[in-house]
Amino acid sequence: MRYIFLDEVDSTNNEIKRLAEKGYEDMTVVSADSQTAGRGRLGHSWTSPKGTSIATSILIRPEKLDIKMIQLPRITILTAVAVLDAIEHATGLTAGIKWPNDVLLHDKKVCGILTELCFMPKDAFAHQSDYSILHKAGNKYIVIGIGINVTVRDFPDEIKDMATSMSIAMEQAGKSKEEIEKLSRRSIIENVWTNFSYYYHEFLKTGNLNFIKKKYESRLVNIGRMVKVEDPNGEYEAKALGIDYAGKLLIKVGEDEYRAIDSGEVHVRGLYGYV
Ligand code: BTN
Repeated sequence: MRYIFLDEVDSTNNEIKRLAEKGYEDMTVVSADSQTAGRGRLGHSWTSPKGTSIATSILIRPEKLDIKMIQLPRITILTAVAVLDAIEHATGLTAGIKWPNDVLLHDKKVCGILTELCFMPKDAFAHQSDYSILHKAGNKYIVIGIGINVTVRDFPDEIKDMATSMSIAMEQAGKSKEEIEKLSRRSIIENVWTNFSYYYHEFLKTGNLNFIKKKYESRLVNIGRMVKVEDPNGEYEAKALGIDYAGKLLIKVGEDEYRAIDSGEVHVRGLYGYV
């Protein structure tokens, strides 16, 4: 794994894309102390305040796996578990997951993940004399970006009811000042990507999430709760039961109808508030 640390960047996902197009290798990680144009899912922006948050992205170039769009949710889900492990290790708290990939502390969001599938532009490597590098690198790559609130205290009004940070949650749980001061952004980042590398290589063996399903479900806050499914064909309510091998949410609609819903197609919301 190759780590690059920057003071400031527009977005670590954008920076990874620029590096990918220059031919950087699989498992290159870019982290920044602050982002000026951080991006969230569904076109939202993402703020990464200087010195108190983590903004980090990784470049992966899967060689064997046929990366169809459908695989992205699986990779995002295993990333959520890698982050969850690192957050639990650093805080000593038990974290939760809101399907598909928001990591929570005390039912509030502490981390967001943005996974993007990208294609190399036709003129990438045009300056290289050795065109075999293009073949080696493949013409598709994936960027996974992670934002974690480590010691953030103030959040913008729109998100302040649903966001938290590692230090706020530790305080609420009665952890000592000394324990909170030990939070190290660098070691959390390294831990996240070491965990990721392990889970990702396990995933590549089969392409499914069975190896991680039990752990994921043990932290899934939606389990057993009613969710509102925002389907393009109409909204409905259902009970969340767990996930399948592909990371789809298994739900029960009414008395006896079971469905598996895909994060690329629908969104779920808690019936009462964020979770
Ligand atoms: C979400 O909306 O929940 C996803 C947020 C992802 C934010 C991270 S911060 C590092 C990386 N760079 C970005 O511009 N976005 C991701």
